[in-house]
Amino acid sequence: MCVPHHHFKTSPKNIARAATLLFEGKLVAFPTETVYGLGANAINGKAVAGIFETKGRPNFNPLIIHVATLTDAENLVKFNTKAKTLAQEFWPGPLTLVLPRRTNSEVSEIASAGLDTLAIRIPSHKICRKLLQAVKVPIAAPSANRSGSVSPTTAQHVFESLGSSVDFILDDGPCSIGVESTILDVSGDTIKLLRPGGITLENLTRVAGAIQTFSDEEQKPIAPGMLSHHYSTVLPLRMNASEVQPGEALLAFGRVSTKNTGMVYNLSESEDLSEAAANLFCMMRLVDQPQNKGIAVTPIPNHGLGRAINDRLKRASHKHPLAPNTTIS
Ligand code: TXA
Ligand code: MG
Repeated sequence: MCVPHHHFKTSPKNIARAATLLFEGKLVAFPTETVYGLGANAINGKAVAGIFETKGRPNFNPLIIHVATLTDAENLVKFNTKAKTLAQEFWPGPLTLVLPRRTNSEVSEIASAGLDTLAIRIPSHKICRKLLQAVKVPIAAPSANRSGSVSPTTAQHVFESLGSSVDFILDDGPCSIGVESTILDVSGDTIKLLRPGGITLENLTRVAGAIQTFSDEEQKPIAPGMLSHHYSTVLPLRMNASEVQPGEALLAFGRVSTKNTGMVYNLSESEDLSEAAANLFCMMRLVDQPQNKGIAVTPIPNHGLGRAINDRLKRASHKHPLAPNTTIS
């Protein structure tokens, strides 16, 4: 289903080109192990503002800053002991740490929405790391999709969502993890889970000890980009479905015996949560078609990566209109 458009296969030449464009203040979409990001030079306020414009974000909510090395990260934020342990254990990888910003950090205020903390991560994706090493400046990057819609896990998704408003799309095929990074606020005494994601809470707890989790309502004020109607599909989506209603498409997990004659996609027949995460956003797009009346999703266990999957599905299943002052990413 992925027909190439104006995106560019990764070659050393294209990585160098993407790095130059980023450095100069252009917008470049690039692969990470989680989802495709829409990058801008984080120390260039005008470039960062371009991200909000291109995504159609109603507000300037803070972005994740991507760097190549721990030293780069230490130049931007102050690490405490727990943060250091987490970084050493899980970086490079799908973990974002929220830490106090250094006063001399060059990151544009617009990228951090004027907060005194920065969300920072070192991705593990090989091409992404080459790009970050080449560009030599921190890169601010949200997911490369229109605000509020499903995150892109292929270059084709990026093109369909943002089209030619992006200066360059670096294509390295589908993302291996498929859900965004886990966000931990490590800036205070208590570690807080701001967003479940690619590193499981179980693994984080093993290394860092107790981590405070929040319900959606509690979460809002501290993770400004986490709105309940994020990731929305056009069609209504229903979780924990035990049957399929006429006209509904089915997003299944595990073996399902169904007489359903409608559209069916299986996130993972073998009940493998990693496989389900990698398929999630692509399959959400595939079932979100006008010939269907709605989307039914079978139950998915709420542990490991299932926590991130259920979080995204829950946000997609919320169908209420945008309030005038909301921020979404
Ligand atoms: O996997 C990912 O994290 C992807 C790839 C591209 O790296 N990026 C991503 O970015 O998901 P985005 O913009 O879609 O989500 C960023 C989230 C938002 O919920 C935002 O509110 C939160 O990070 N955030 C950013 N800075 C923050 C800060 N200083 N304090 C608390 N939350 C912050
Ligand atoms: Mg996003």
